[in-house]
Amino acid sequence: MKIITAINELRAILAQERASGKKISFVPTMGNLHEGHLDLVRRAHQSSDCVVVSIFVNQMQFGPSEDYTNYPRTPEADQQKLHSEKVDYLFMPTATEMYPPTGITTHTEVFVPDVSTILCGASRPGHFKWVATVVAKLFNIVQPDVAIFGEKDFQQLTVIRSMVTDLCMPIEIIGAPTTRGESGLALSSRNGYLTPSELAIAPTLYKTLMQIKQKLADGNRDFVALESQAKSTLAEAGFVPDYISIRCQSDLSEPTADDKMLVILAAAKLGKARLIDNLQVAL
Ligand code: PAF
Repeated sequence: MKIITAINELRAILAQERASGKKISFVPTMGNLHEGHLDLVRRAHQSSDCVVVSIFVNQMQFGPSEDYTNYPRTPEADQQKLHSEKVDYLFMPTATEMYPPTGITTHTEVFVPDVSTILCGASRPGHFKWVATVVAKLFNIVQPDVAIFGEKDFQQLTVIRSMVTDLCMPIEIIGAPTTRGESGLALSSRNGYLTPSELAIAPTLYKTLMQIKQKLADGNRDFVALESQAKSTLAEAGFVPDYISIRCQSDLSEPTADDKMLVILAAAKLGKARLIDNLQVAL
């Protein structure tokens, strides 16, 4: 595995790989890699001949009161894991390589309307605009044939799919199922913020989503009541729920009783961690 920090160097090497006929796949990350990320890497191998992973903690997508400073950074352990997974290139740019030294105020922004401002976008203003912007930049640097994202960040995946369609980016986007621990808790770098007692409570988030899924399968279509019961369950367990929402899978719009392809999305704070999870439902 070759570690590259400069955009020009990565471009030059990948141009050669492309010229030799290789299909390139890309897994963008913010590091602190766990089994969920490694699953994305394994899927990348299955759909290409050359796997590129990036690690860049994109400060712009964190709100002023969010955890940018404390976000877990484990570069050495990450490199070892990616080396074992036979990644071809690890791109680890600095902030000055990615953003101009003159500052960010005049930087181009990529904004996907509607889906960027609901759910997590409502609680984290500007977050998805800067996710889309940094992913667009990374796509332009790597120019992959395929990019793999976790379904754990379902709204992020929806934003990226819209961006790629709207801007005619010739990239296949693959969504990978969420990797869970034995308790059902979705793996996340932010689980590291949980204390042992919070870790015992955390799987309630997944269990609550499963309960809604079952009720939908049983024919219940009172979305508002299902959402508010679930919020109470989470609050009783010790969470501070942000939202629980049943939406259409395709664009995260509010469903009618006739919609069949749904997704239940949730975000809730537990101690210092803001946890998100979702479950897709096909009725
Ligand atoms: O999901 C993430 O880790 C980040 O949002 C991403 C896609 C790498 C952009 O910074």
